[in-house]
Amino acid sequence: MLPDNPVLKLISRTALENNTELYVIGGYVRDMILGRPTSDMDIVVIGSGIEFAEKLAGTIGGNTTVSIFRNFGTAMLRYDDYEIEFVGARKESYRRDSRKPIVEEGTLQDDQKRRDFTINALAVGLGTKNFGILLDPFNGMEDLENKLIRTPLDPYITFSDDPLRIMRAIRFATQLNFRIEQSTLKAITESRERIKIISQERITEELNKMLLSDKPSIGFDLLEKTKLLEIILPEVHAMKGVDVVEGRMHKDNFHHTLKVLDNLCKKSDNLWLRWAALLHDVGKPGTKRYTEESGWTFHGHDHLGAKMIPRIFRRLKLPLNEKMKYVQKIVQLHLRPISLSGEEITDSAIRRLLFDAGDQTDDLMMLCEADITSKNRETVRRHLNNFRLVREKLREIEEKDAIRNFQPPVRGDEIMETLGLPPGREVGILKKAIKDAILDGVIRNNREEARRFMMEKAREMGII
Ligand code: CTP
Repeated sequence: MLPDNPVLKLISRTALENNTELYVIGGYVRDMILGRPTSDMDIVVIGSGIEFAEKLAGTIGGNTTVSIFRNFGTAMLRYDDYEIEFVGARKESYRRDSRKPIVEEGTLQDDQKRRDFTINALAVGLGTKNFGILLDPFNGMEDLENKLIRTPLDPYITFSDDPLRIMRAIRFATQLNFRIEQSTLKAITESRERIKIISQERITEELNKMLLSDKPSIGFDLLEKTKLLEIILPEVHAMKGVDVVEGRMHKDNFHHTLKVLDNLCKKSDNLWLRWAALLHDVGKPGTKRYTEESGWTFHGHDHLGAKMIPRIFRRLKLPLNEKMKYVQKIVQLHLRPISLSGEEITDSAIRRLLFDAGDQTDDLMMLCEADITSKNRETVRRHLNNFRLVREKLREIEEKDAIRNFQPPVRGDEIMETLGLPPGREVGILKKAIKDAILDGVIRNNREEARRFMMEKAREMGII
């Protein structure tokens, strides 16, 4: 099985010329068999990966540069859109970020068995030995066919070698829509506490990859099932479960959230909107109340949820910049379009939504549509219809009034100058009155009407 790839052919030719035994291994082989696109290549050299990479760079010529990490015994070369890593076969666990120097060189088999999963341990010979042959000592091909994630060694050993693999197992299951083999899954559950020694950045990178896959619910269900969710994302875990009082129950907000997330992923590949979908109801456990009159309510969960976002982002080492603000805003506003539908939709409510959501209006609508998870087809139809009306109205009002990126037509300094006011409370009142008049449709969004309104208001306030 020789992959038909010009870069691999070049590596192969150089290996044969230099009498080197080497293999393409891991993700590249896995993805080639699965027909997934890939641009990373891992080459295991029996001997020195660095020496071979230097020889290859010489053959390629031009301005090819090799990055060498001598203490890890690895070399990286960029060529033809590929990032190719060369490493000597080793006896100890393979970790790309390992800070440990290589202590002992090994055979291909040694190298394969210290890898994370059978499907990631497949190797194809490219050099003098095993040319074109697939080497699969742990039945990785069978696991690929059966869609199974399994460790090559006793899973407790594989996971203790590198606990990040706990997350990787769940991430691959999510991305590839594979199952995790039973003893591997059991070991994940029992080794879960070990995840605490892994840096948050690397855990979060895996979460991001899960979120960016077609059906993230697979991953979050597995995180829950293996009890990892309560360690990594306790706020999401807290949404699980139903309470029953006087025979009345609310829905399981964790499962609801996962449905919303999967729905949204069919419409948008925006990572941050996906985070917003995962966290949109995160304020529910903290606002849950039961009263006889109203049954279960979650009043203010939008507000509490938005308030929780910075803490969650900080802990997960997610960016605290405009990405966080974006998620926060969507969580804060996620009930607004719903509250608009069902009744007469006023222009003023639409203008206020455009004002508050700004550029995120379309994303917010997308989340709200994904939030309809009822099994009742009539309910779904009614909601979708309502949202269609809201969208139409949003378009119509935006065309007419341009509220989306609202800039006040009369600014604070102009108010002060015209009315001879010092900075202070009155300026603020006037500014807000102008904004409200525009949003409520009392005046249109232009300078002339705003100035006239300002004068009237100033007169009313006894300023002039
Ligand atoms: N690997 C491992 N244990 C890890 C990380 C990586 O055994 N904790 C091995 C696996 O054989 C893997 C290879 O190193 O296939 C390359 O790692 P990486 O590039 O991180 O993963 P890929 O399998 O290529 O997949 P992806 O790019 O989606 O992460």
